Amino acid sequence: MADRIYIFDTTLRDGEQAPGYSMNLDEKIRVAKQLETLGVDIIEAGFAISSPGDAESVRAIAGAVNDVTVASLARALQKDIDAAWDAVRVARRPRIHVFLATSDLHLQYKLRMSRDEAVERLKSAVRYARNLCPDIEFSLEDATRTDLDYMCRVVEEAIKEGATTINLPDTVGYASPGDITEMVTAVRNRVPNIDKAIISMHCHDDLGLATANTLAGVRAGARQIECTLCGIGERAGNTALEEVVMAMKTRPDLYDTETRINTEELCRSARLLSSITGVRIFPSKAIVGDNAFAHESGIHQHGMMANSKTYEIMTPESVGVVKTNYVLGKHSGQHAFSRKLEELGYTLTDSEVSRLFAEFKNLCDRKKNVTDRDIIALVEASESHDKQTWSLVSYVVTSGNSITSTACIKLKNGDKTVEGVASGTGPVYASLRAVEKIIRHPFSLDDYQLQAVTEHRDALGEALVKISDGSGVYRGRGVSTDVIEASILACLTAVNRMLEGASSSISGGPAATTASFENDMLVGHTDKED
Ligand code: KIV
Ligand code: ZN
Repeated sequence: MADRIYIFDTTLRDGEQAPGYSMNLDEKIRVAKQLETLGVDIIEAGFAISSPGDAESVRAIAGAVNDVTVASLARALQKDIDAAWDAVRVARRPRIHVFLATSDLHLQYKLRMSRDEAVERLKSAVRYARNLCPDIEFSLEDATRTDLDYMCRVVEEAIKEGATTINLPDTVGYASPGDITEMVTAVRNRVPNIDKAIISMHCHDDLGLATANTLAGVRAGARQIECTLCGIGERAGNTALEEVVMAMKTRPDLYDTETRINTEELCRSARLLSSITGVRIFPSKAIVGDNAFAHESGIHQHGMMANSKTYEIMTPESVGVVKTNYVLGKHSGQHAFSRKLEELGYTLTDSEVSRLFAEFKNLCDRKKNVTDRDIIALVEASESHDKQTWSLVSYVVTSGNSITSTACIKLKNGDKTVEGVASGTGPVYASLRAVEKIIRHPFSLDDYQLQAVTEHRDALGEALVKISDGSGVYRGRGVSTDVIEASILACLTAVNRMLEGASSSISGGPAATTASFENDMLVGHTDKED
């Protein structure tokens, strides 16, 4: 019988701490709920001691999901373990994840501890944690550069103190698959009480080997995999969840394992992460990239027509690539539209469907063929518009290569309509300045990205902006066949979040570096407004 592999997702901890991937509380809860739907076994929701915001989000996630274990990371310190326990205890299945570095390099230079001192430290930490919580994971940070004899001693002691999962991370992405096989085999053969714990792999991708190393660990006997959606994480990232899961599913001859993952949810999970963080999925990303199942060359297309197995090792449907049977257009009614949303996997309230239907009709007037990807873009942009304060009434923007760009924008807030005029070095800059003058709240633009949702000249343009005002960083997304309108809508979403206050701010993380125009405070000039 196939062996069960437990999927430990650390998108919200190791993934979220990577630059550009910070999320606010609501966003983390949406990701956690999608991970539950995806069928992961454990969600590492954060590092509770690291900030009050992290503790709050671990606690909120622990209360928001049911069918999944919720873990918080903790150093081998009583105060960390207390904070972790305080945050996860409301979960139906809580876990405390304690870690301590064990390589001589880390012991000597980072922890300034002897090997014996480290053993004493981890013993008391695991014992303390186990008295609070029945499910304890212990990680030997930098395991792949740890002396094997010492590793076996540490693992044995951690299990004696009550650790139920032993994680052997390749913290710096240094190992090769052969090293991993040797390490896991040694631990299995030489640690007398290893049958009382599950061995876990946690690999980083510095040499592009995270997935290969994780799978080598599985073949050697590891039964928990730590991974993130799209492989996000520290530096080059972690093992990509979708890759290891589909590798095991596609090659039962090699792995003979099963997971609880509902693979049809893989693409949707990756899309949700991308839409929340504003970081695009690389088109050729394995499993979830737009091109992962595209066949361009004539030879491949011919083979695919004869028998799809010639060039396809798994079906697009098995990972949730959406292919629906009917196309919507100008004459489609709300009923057909709502059926399409269901087919695309969205569960929305009646009022959300009605609002989206109005946007869809508006789009049909501007665009001949409305594709599934257009509808997905509308839904994803509208998800972030929930609590509109300021909304767009109208705009006129002039620009050219021999004039200064000028924007005249009219916004509505409740009963109030306000107009602002501003100029700038380009039409987007002028528009955002005009918005800033109307709302009377200075902000800087940290990131701006624009791309077409589909091919062809009438494609929808999708704008992503990240703004900050000193209190936090706020993201917004907007779509329109007019890229200036898309930019204004994206800016308004971010602005509304900013004005709602800190609850929607993104926690920590340095600002992204891809801003396409200067990163200055946009107000402070004297253009007229009414
Ligand atoms: O990479 C690593 O070693 C970690 C541990 C804290 C598990 O993320
Ligand atoms: Zn890590």
